[in-house]
Amino acid sequence: MKNIVIHLINNIMKIETYQKLTLVFHPTLLLLFFLRKIPLSWFFELRLAIDGIDRPYYAYCLFQAALEAKALHLKKISAIEFGVAAGNGLISLERLSKQVTHITGIEIDIYGFDLVTGLPKISDYRDLPYIWKKGFCKMNVSTLRKRLKRSTTLILGDVKDTVPIFLERDFSPIGFIAFDLDYYTSTKFALRIFHTIENNLLPRIFCYFDNIIGTDEEIMCEFTGEQLSIREFNNIHKNKKIAKISGLYHKRIIKSTWSDMVYVMHSFKHTLYNRYIYPSEDRQDNLN
Ligand SMILES: C[S@@+](CC[C@H](N)C(=O)[O-])C[C@H]1O[C@@H](n2cnc3c(N)ncnc32)[C@H](O)[C@@H]1O
Repeated sequence: MKNIVIHLINNIMKIETYQKLTLVFHPTLLLLFFLRKIPLSWFFELRLAIDGIDRPYYAYCLFQAALEAKALHLKKISAIEFGVAAGNGLISLERLSKQVTHITGIEIDIYGFDLVTGLPKISDYRDLPYIWKKGFCKMNVSTLRKRLKRSTTLILGDVKDTVPIFLERDFSPIGFIAFDLDYYTSTKFALRIFHTIENNLLPRIFCYFDNIIGTDEEIMCEFTGEQLSIREFNNIHKNKKIAKISGLYHKRIIKSTWSDMVYVMHSFKHTLYNRYIYPSEDRQDNLN
């Protein structure tokens, strides 16, 4: 009971929650929206700016990936969730992708990777056995399939096996990946998605890692879990680096922890990496 009260107070006291509610449900804003005086794109961007949207970190990454694709004159991208479980994240991704496509014109294919039987056997301390256990987060495949749209593809099995098989398929360039596999080992195998030809990747891929910041008991750090898999990836790859976006936290109106969980995989040797992305006149105006 004490914990529930502390949890409630923590949530109620969060300034960001208060701001979200007052701003998103501000009567003037809602009235303008319903009178269709605010275009959907503005409404989406406004909600995104103040975290007044479901999974703002998915929304931010997906929207930025679609804008990148648009600037590079691409028509379609892929968005992936590693670790689906009951499917709440995948369903948010579906909803968001509908809005992002409407606003940007970029079509989005969605893929969800999962083992079905929950978390696999733990390898060693790097998988954090003090907070995870084999079998956590099982998936009910038939229930989930009923909730999903037909355009979303579930890729079932251990990512160690399914990622290399997936890479043999034809798919649109990957623009966004949500990593939520909990373990170091699983994330390490999932990161092999980047071992592919450049046509399968945007030059800069937005990544959200769900286990970068944890609870006080979880004590996430760079020597275990997702952070270790990112560090090892960067050590191995000379021309591909996974890096945080400098200053993202400070730029956001609402200071949320998720900005420290967003990374970008830079593919420096990608043919499109150096392509200028601003419409020239706009940029010129800003610089003058
Ligand atoms: C925390 S849950 C995902 C929750 C989901 N992203 C959400 O937001 O609702 C973690 C999932 O990762 C999956 N997983 C962990 N290691 C895996 C592996 N090696 N291969 C495939 N799936 C794995 C588990 O089956 C589990 O369903």
